[in-house]
Parts: sequence; C-alpha cells; structure tokens
Amino acid sequence: MPPSLDLMSPETRANPYPLYAELRRSGIRQVEPGGMWAVSRYDDVVTVMKDPRRFSSAGLGQGFLPPWLPRNPVAQSLVMQDPPLHTRLRGRVSRTFGPAALAVLEPKIRAIADQLTRQLLRHDGSVDFMSEFALHLPVNVLGLLLGLHPEQSPQLKQWADDLINLPAGRHPPEEQHRVRESLASLEQCFEELLSTRRASPGDDLVSELLRPDAEGAMLSHDELMSFLFALLPAGVETTVYLLANTLVVLSEHPEDRARVLKNPALLPQLLEEVLRYEPPAHSSLRLVTEDTELSGVRLPQGSLVVVLLASALRDERHFPDADRFRLDRERSSHLAFGHGIHYCLGALLARLEARLGLEALFSQLRDFSRASAELHWAPSLIARGPLALPLHLTPTHPRE
Ligand code: HEM
Repeated sequence: MPPSLDLMSPETRANPYPLYAELRRSGIRQVEPGGMWAVSRYDDVVTVMKDPRRFSSAGLGQGFLPPWLPRNPVAQSLVMQDPPLHTRLRGRVSRTFGPAALAVLEPKIRAIADQLTRQLLRHDGSVDFMSEFALHLPVNVLGLLLGLHPEQSPQLKQWADDLINLPAGRHPPEEQHRVRESLASLEQCFEELLSTRRASPGDDLVSELLRPDAEGAMLSHDELMSFLFALLPAGVETTVYLLANTLVVLSEHPEDRARVLKNPALLPQLLEEVLRYEPPAHSSLRLVTEDTELSGVRLPQGSLVVVLLASALRDERHFPDADRFRLDRERSSHLAFGHGIHYCLGALLARLEARLGLEALFSQLRDFSRASAELHWAPSLIARGPLALPLHLTPTHPRE
C-alpha cells in the first residue's frame, strides 16, 4: 500500500483534505492504519450508515477497552450497538434530549457562557481559547444535564479526558493505574447519582432515565451506566472542537469574521458551514458483517470500514465549490452529526451550546486573531480539533 494512504501520518493529520480528495477520486480503497477500507464519497457514506445489517457498529468499543482495563461501561454504549438492542435503548433515551429539556437548560448555559467570557477577557496579551473557554463549556453543561454540583466540574473534566484519551493514548503502567482509578471514581460518582435520584427524582436527565417508559419498561443498571459513561466522549470533545474549529475558520476568513462579530444572527448558519467545512467528528467505524460489495468493491466479512464523514462533506458531487468556506452556503443536508439510526442524539444540544457560547463571547469582542500561525491538531482519526488555540482578543470595552 503506498505510504501516502496513511490516514494517521503527521502530514495527513495536519491537513487531511488532499488525501480525502484523492480517495474520493479513486473510490473505496484500503488505507493505513490496519488496512481499513476507507469510504470517502457522500453517497457511499450514506449507504454504509443506512445499513446497520451489513455495516455493524459493534467493535467500535475495542479502543475503549485496552487489555489492562478490566471493564469499561462505555464499550457497551448505545453508539456501539446494532438493532434490535439499539432500537430499544434509543427509544428509551431519545426524549431526554428534546426541545423541552433544552428550553430548561438554555438560561443556565447562557449564564455559564457569560461567566467563561468574563474570565477569558481578564487575560491581557494572548490567551489559549481551548484551556480557558472551549474545554470548560461542554463539561459544565454536561454537569448541568446530569444534575451534578458545579464544584464537581473540574473532576468531571479529568474523567472525561481520561476516557476520551483511551483509544489514542499510550499508557505506561503508572498511567494505567491512574486511569483505572479515575474510571472507578467516575463509576462511583454515577452510582451515587443514580441512588440519589432514585430516592428523590428531579427534572434532570438522570431522573428521566430512571422513569419507566409508556409500556412500563425500565433501563437495566448496566444500560444506564454505559449510557452515562458514553456522554463524556460523545458530548464533550466534539463540542469543544466545534467551538475551537469555528474560531480557527474565522481567524482565516477576516471578512466573514467581521460580519459575524457585527451580526450574531449569522451564528446558526456559521455553525452549519463550520460543521461541514471543518467537522469535529471526522469519521466513524463500521464492521462488515458478511462478504459484501460497495460501489463495485468487494469487502470481506470481518473487515473494518472507516467512514470518512469529513471527506463526504467536501464531496464536489454534493456540495458545489466544496473546498471553499462559504458563510452564505445554502443549507444542504450535511453528515456532521452522522446519518441513520445512530444520528447524534445531542445535535440540538451541541448547536445550542455552541451558539450560546459564541454569542456570549462575540458580544464582548471587537475582533480577535491567532497569536500563533502554527496549529497542532489532535492526533485522532475520529475527532478533529486543535490541541491549543492561542488568540489575541480585542474586547469591545477596554479592560478594567
Ligand atoms: C458538535 C458536537 C457533536 C458532533 C459533531 C457529534 C457527532 C456525532 C456523530 C457523527 C454521531 C454518530 C456516530 C456513528 O454513527 O458512529 C453521534 C452520535 C451520538 N452523539 Fe453526538 N455529536 C456532538 C455532540 C453531542 C452531544 C453534546 C451529545 C450529548 C451530550 C452527543 C451524544 C451522542 C450520542 C448519545 C450518540 C449515539 C446515538 C446513537 O447511537 O443512537 N453528541 N454524534
């Protein structure tokens, strides 16, 4: 296999789009790492995501269960299940992320965003947007959603980091011990949360998950635990990167930046175009359940398929002028939140969080720019975002 087809090479992680374009030209190809089959065109991506019978989500948990970890509830979570189990679980949890639940959260998210903005603007000179803002908003919102105490947020962030870094990280023995302890503490925190809410239910997500559905069916303890665990990788890292990628894109498009800073009503369309152009969830994985054919290529049973969402979102056959960021692009169904039965349960929440976060920040900014031209992207195949994002901020009102 030519070395140029390595999805994880440093050159590809720095800028994966030339390789994605080459893959779209040549069709379905085997790539590194591991000889996975890369599916890169929009139509093929939709075909795979719509067909859980031939392309299973089982096995996505492997990265979360290294040999040195005795157990990890996330490895059995919703996103890694196929029908009929997935259908039942999804039916039970989907209402917890609907518009009614979000309307309750909105003022609280706005308050968190205002407070993070105030803290960010206290910095003179350059400030790292990732560690001072983007990493905090989704963790705090998840804490709200679960009904945790605000003081538990830093701890939740550490647990989220440990869980998220499992598939990509190299863990020497002393690290392994720390991660095992960390996940055990997270499990204990969720155990306590479940028993508190069982004793006195409230209007939070955990209380809702504990209620029987219309037919009187309840989630088992293990199902509850894996769902709660899965919210950390699913809901934190992706939203952090949506916030950060938006600022990266705007830093490179001064005219659009000026327009959005002047007119926050443009934020929803800005976010949709960032989700297409620089999507935080770059890819997903599927396992081929039987010998099958896709666009003329034979895929053997048991092979792994990498579904390149970010490539599909640059497919010229579907998006005119696909490699250009266009703030005024007409809305077209994008795949940034997936497609089919696993379509992101948190899509509404993620859009709300990002809009409120940026609304709070932009209301206090006249302009911003990157403090360093160089960007280091997270070394991940699944998620794309910068590791750090140093910015120079020009506030609307001079600092006190
Ligand atoms: C910008 C932010 C986000 C992006 C780009 C994103 C993207 C995605 C994608 C692509 C999938 C489908 C994965 C697959 O089919 O293999 C997915 C599933 C999921 N997401 Fe998100 N997500 C985001 C935020 C969130 C948030 C905030 C939450 C909850 C707090 C969340 C919860 C979930 C869950 C539970 C699933 C699994 C659904 C299922 O299997 O039925 N996501 N997400």
